[in-house]
Amino acid sequence: MARPGGRRVVNMGIITNGNDSSTSGRDSGAPAGDAETQEWVARRASSFGAVATDYDEHRPGYPSEAVAWALAPVSARRGGGPLDVLDLAAGTGKLTREALALGHRVTAVEPDAGMLDALRERLPQATALSGAAERIPLADASVDAVVVGQAIHWFDQERALPEIARVLRPGGVLATLSNADDDRVGWIAGLGEISPSQVSFLGWENKPRRAIEPHPAFSAPVEADFPHVMVRTAETLTATAATHSHLLVMEPAQRAAATARILDYLKSRPETASGEFELHLVTRVQRCEHAAG
Ligand SMILES: C[S@@+](CC[C@H](N)C(=O)[O-])C[C@H]1O[C@@H](n2cnc3c(N)ncnc32)[C@H](O)[C@@H]1O
Repeated sequence: MARPGGRRVVNMGIITNGNDSSTSGRDSGAPAGDAETQEWVARRASSFGAVATDYDEHRPGYPSEAVAWALAPVSARRGGGPLDVLDLAAGTGKLTREALALGHRVTAVEPDAGMLDALRERLPQATALSGAAERIPLADASVDAVVVGQAIHWFDQERALPEIARVLRPGGVLATLSNADDDRVGWIAGLGEISPSQVSFLGWENKPRRAIEPHPAFSAPVEADFPHVMVRTAETLTATAATHSHLLVMEPAQRAAATARILDYLKSRPETASGEFELHLVTRVQRCEHAAG
């Protein structure tokens, strides 16, 4: 499906329009230096390690079909066998886990020591290295695919895209995967209204800096959406929200007030007031290929 912005959306499930209305007025996604200062962005980008255990416990993972779709062009070319996959900005390994489960050899690169330690503990079968998107500790043409989960917005893409092209083999794939809360569901839209940040809601993943920027080393990205659910309670969904960088960098009193507001809201809604419920999510995948392929 063609749409403004030039990316083709492959509708694997339910979303095709990338509607941005849920983010208007707040969290504009403007480049650092406008709405946010460089320092603020850097603080947020490095805020996760302090809560690595909570992050791993409470953040959603990625559907295996989404990871398979991300890797499909290079998988097809390699006859479906194991690939060398780099999970860049791997965090605690949520995407690494899925790529390993699909039978691939995975190298995880992550700058935060707390996140990297958690990944090493949980996924010893992956090769875990300290590094960043702008300085990847791998040899030229050493991987078939680079996957990025919920992190491309932290990259300096001007420096990161040539670095990613350097480590990819000809014809290799670069794919980003982003989870968004599906705020077409009424109570999830209400949660968006009272949340201090809109970053976990639908539409955000297509804001500037969150998509792969045009670069001569890569083909134009194509997209596909993969709906999935995560079982939560009012308390555990509040804990999920508390792992977002906007909350992590707040002063303690401000953070406590924000999480209390979220818990109060969830306790006030019949769908989420007690026991377990399903949080509806969409994983949006953007995929492009190394132009040399
Ligand atoms: C929201 S977490 C995502 C972690 C993991 N990919 C996932 O899907 O759960 C963002 C991660 O990006 C990492 N990060 C921030 N800036 C980075 C950069 N310039 N290069 C590589 N990773 C970066 C953070 O340390 C953090 O682990």
